[in-house]
Amino acid sequence: MNTQKESFLNRLFDVSNDPEIISFAGGLPDKNLLDVKGIENAAQDVFENEGREALQYTTTTGYLPLREYIAERYKKRLGIPACADEIRIVNGSQQCLDLTAKIFLDKGDFVGIEKPGYLGAIEAFSMYQPSFKGVEMDGEGISANGFRELFEKEKPKFFYGIPNFQNPSGRSYSTERRREIAEILTETKGIFYEDDAFGELSFDNRPIPPVKKFAYDNTIMSGSFSKIIAPGMRMGWIYAPCEIIKKFDCAKQAADLHSNFLCQKIMHHYLGKADIDNHIKKINSIYKRKCRLMCDLCDDILPGDVIRTDPKGGMFMLLTLPKGINSLKLFDRGLEKKVSVLPGIPFYTGKGGEDNVRLNFSSPSEDEIAEGMKRLKAAIDDF
Ligand SMILES: Cc1ncc(COP(=O)(O)O)c(C=O)c1O
Repeated sequence: MNTQKESFLNRLFDVSNDPEIISFAGGLPDKNLLDVKGIENAAQDVFENEGREALQYTTTTGYLPLREYIAERYKKRLGIPACADEIRIVNGSQQCLDLTAKIFLDKGDFVGIEKPGYLGAIEAFSMYQPSFKGVEMDGEGISANGFRELFEKEKPKFFYGIPNFQNPSGRSYSTERRREIAEILTETKGIFYEDDAFGELSFDNRPIPPVKKFAYDNTIMSGSFSKIIAPGMRMGWIYAPCEIIKKFDCAKQAADLHSNFLCQKIMHHYLGKADIDNHIKKINSIYKRKCRLMCDLCDDILPGDVIRTDPKGGMFMLLTLPKGINSLKLFDRGLEKKVSVLPGIPFYTGKGGEDNVRLNFSSPSEDEIAEGMKRLKAAIDDF
């Protein structure tokens, strides 16, 4: 990472504990939506009934009933024929990014990514020193022409994308674009890493068919309990063809033997008891309101030449700034006004992000969104 990026990420870390600053820069779920009591009860049941087993070592693959639960949910929600053999439990889906890079990437290999792309993926992949190839996004997802050209010319080891409510932009791929991408993958024998961290966070609770549905053997999917249950439990999964899973198991075993078994048991127990669909609906209705409020304030009080994305789910939106306002300078000015935004710069593997900032709407309260947007307006007005 270059020093400019490092220095502002360090500053961001420094200010993240300042209670006077309203943060739109983070990426946390709303803490009021964590079901503390439900998870506490599940933990108690696990300790009472299977404590000795839960505190023991287990297999690298992950707790079979939890993998079966995930497979069933894919079948029910998305109509894809998932089975537990294709699913592995990991320490948060972030671990899938590291382990996938570990098995696919050697120094100098090409890897494709959305432009802008998820910062955490760029960080994870960068450890293996690949050469990044960014593909631009439009209103319907990544450019199909750009995607085709990449797979035909550069033959990347895989392409990493987030078709649902992308981080950082909040954009989603249209169904048509998903089909086009799938067709290209099948023709070119390419691999798409489909990060579905936000798939369940659809404001209208409507499931959207993943690219995997149209190119089953060409996709590695990852999913996460972080956004719908609790990020602190660090529970996520990979869902991939069995030949990739075999390699993944070796990498996972070498990394940590297995994911936290106690948490896997608690999660499984919790999922069996709680009304998850209702819980997710509640999250979505609250995030929808917060997102609407932030969008309305963008439109009503920020200058007309600030352009925003229009998320239909997830936790983020992206603002493109008026000509002449640099995102890093706005970050600094924002801190003076006690509001933090995330400059787009770390979401680009090359140049880019000087003219945009990411805003998070899931974590701040509605009052904080209202006040924070006024402060952001004041910061922009200063330029
Ligand atoms: C797009 C995306 N993928 C993966 C992750 C990692 O999440 P976790 O490791 O908590 O599952 C995040 C976290 O914010 C994310 O935004």
